[in-house]
Amino acid sequence: MAKKQTLVYSPVGGLLVLILPLLIVAFTSNDNEIKNFERLSISHKFQEELWVKFKHFERKMESEVTKLKTKVELLEAKVLEQAELLKECNTCGSTAKMFDNDMPVDHVKNVKPLVKSSLQPKTCLEALTSDPSLESGMYWIDPDGQGRGDNPIYVYCNMTSGSSSILHDTENSTDVDHCFDPGCYSRQIKYNATLRQIAMLAELSNECHQSIQIDCFDAALEFNGIAYAWWDDRNGDERYFWSGTNNNLSSHYHSCQCGLERSCVDKSLMCNCDSDLAIELSDNGVITDKDLLPITKLNFGRTIAPTSISSYKIGRLECSGKVVLNGIPTSCQDLWRVGYVLSGLYSIKGPSSRVETVYCDFSKLPGDEGLQTWIGYDNVKSEPVYFNVGRNTSYSNSGTAMPFEKEILNVGNAFDLSSGTFVAPRNGTYFFAFTSFSEYSYNSFYFSLNVNDVQTTSCYSPMTLYYCHILYTLKLTSGDQVRMFLQQGSTNNALFTGALLEEDVF
Ligand SMILES: *[C@@H]1O[C@H](CO)[C@@H](O)[C@H](O)[C@H]1NC(C)=O
Ligand SMILES: *[C@@H]1O[C@H](CO)[C@@H](O)[C@H](O)[C@H]1NC(C)=O
Ligand SMILES: *[C@@H]1O[C@H](CO)[C@@H](O)[C@H](O)[C@H]1NC(C)=O
Ligand SMILES: *[C@@H]1O[C@H](CO)[C@@H](O)[C@H](O)[C@H]1NC(C)=O
Ligand SMILES: *[C@@H]1O[C@H](CO)[C@@H](O)[C@H](O)[C@H]1NC(C)=O
Ligand SMILES: *[C@@H]1O[C@H](CO)[C@@H](O)[C@H](O)[C@H]1NC(C)=O
Repeated sequence: MAKKQTLVYSPVGGLLVLILPLLIVAFTSNDNEIKNFERLSISHKFQEELWVKFKHFERKMESEVTKLKTKVELLEAKVLEQAELLKECNTCGSTAKMFDNDMPVDHVKNVKPLVKSSLQPKTCLEALTSDPSLESGMYWIDPDGQGRGDNPIYVYCNMTSGSSSILHDTENSTDVDHCFDPGCYSRQIKYNATLRQIAMLAELSNECHQSIQIDCFDAALEFNGIAYAWWDDRNGDERYFWSGTNNNLSSHYHSCQCGLERSCVDKSLMCNCDSDLAIELSDNGVITDKDLLPITKLNFGRTIAPTSISSYKIGRLECSGKVVLNGIPTSCQDLWRVGYVLSGLYSIKGPSSRVETVYCDFSKLPGDEGLQTWIGYDNVKSEPVYFNVGRNTSYSNSGTAMPFEKEILNVGNAFDLSSGTFVAPRNGTYFFAFTSFSEYSYNSFYFSLNVNDVQTTSCYSPMTLYYCHILYTLKLTSGDQVRMFLQQGSTNNALFTGALLEEDVF
């Protein structure tokens, strides 16, 4: 029995299962005619030999099939990899750089048509961009990226606007049952896409919206300060606004389109349906908060009166446009949005407004843990700046900026010896160190470090001490002047050094 099972699992074996009994039957009937024991045993022997041969053949075929399967898998992986590279290169701008890794360029050319046909667009807009002749209709798209994450989704593409619409099961008008408590009636909206794919579509799009229409008769959404109706957002949080965005810090923010326009039948209320009038009313709105959409569940209540009527209809979730980055990317998420798919180290504008290096793991998606790992600050210096100067002759012009004589280092040429002036070439943080000895031990003396002629710090040396040290780190704006002023006494020995520690890049 075990033998048969192993046969059934392989396609070649399956064939044998069909053929073998036929052969056996053929030989058995031959034996019956002859009724000769010897012939019978020879025949059995022959059958056995045949069996062994088939087993051998089967094993060989099985190993061939396995080899072929592996080969196909390898080829598939390679095609996928090249598709990613090609996609990456569409946004990278420098073709040469992408392909000099390990792939000869003519190899890529050969593969191109295959790659093109196997590429799944992330959005309808992407499909339209790559082929402007496409007509509106149902298309497969894969917002979270081909070959990763969830399966592609089947959406309606409006090829005039390039928008992607996600279908769901509540597009037709639906009645609310009669019941009293807040949210006593609820309906889960089933989308023809996973929430993860929807979230990624929103990430990639410039805007998303979903319309909702509520027709009501004596069925308030909110009455006497009690909310009877709400919708659940993408995260399952309750929302009470029925148009626009949740532009109010309160998570219980309640409004409808007429409330936003101050045009509800009862102008003191936020929704038409909230008024207590026994007339047929309706609230129409378009929810535009793409980080909260889609509506995942609708909840209603206070429809207990037999005369009360409430029904609703919600539109497809429609997303359009391409998300625009305002300036320099600030996260791996930003990089993902503009099409980066190769994991690696990237520089971004960090929350500290400094350039930071992060590791982006693009096997993860926006919102996933581990997409971005912080590595550290980038030591950006558009120009290295440091100096080390000294003097060893007498100086006693108190109340003046001390010039220097000897330049040991002056990288960036920010220090002028003759005037003793350092001019900050960039906005940033600078470090300075100054040391000097008094020329005469019986004199007290002191120096000040002046920024734009304003004393910022100083060192005072009384008679018994002969030296004066300053260590100072400060922020400077480009053009700021730093000088050492001798305020009192005299010196014949001084050393002054400074460096740009960190440049303000943004
Ligand atoms: C497609 O988009 C265009 C332009 O926005 C719009 O006029 C048209 O009504 C849309 N078609 C459908 C079927 O939604
Ligand atoms: C909506 O109504 C139309 C016409 O009555 C029907 O053909 C369609 O299947 C309905 N759609 C859904 C999602 O129930
Ligand atoms: C829903 O999506 C599935 C695949 O995810 C697709 O086969 C099916 O046709 C879609 N249904 C509609 C109504 O678009
Ligand atoms: C914010 O929403 C709450 C609850 O609906 C409301 O009481 C408050 O007045 C709103 N604030 C503004 C500024 O609209
Ligand atoms: C002062 O510095 C100059 C040049 O560095 C050097 O030649 C001279 O010997 C030094 N004088 C003293 C007194 O150290
Ligand atoms: C330097 O900082 C000043 C003031 O903080 C600012 O006005 C100026 O734009 C900055 N310059 C540069 C190049 O960032």
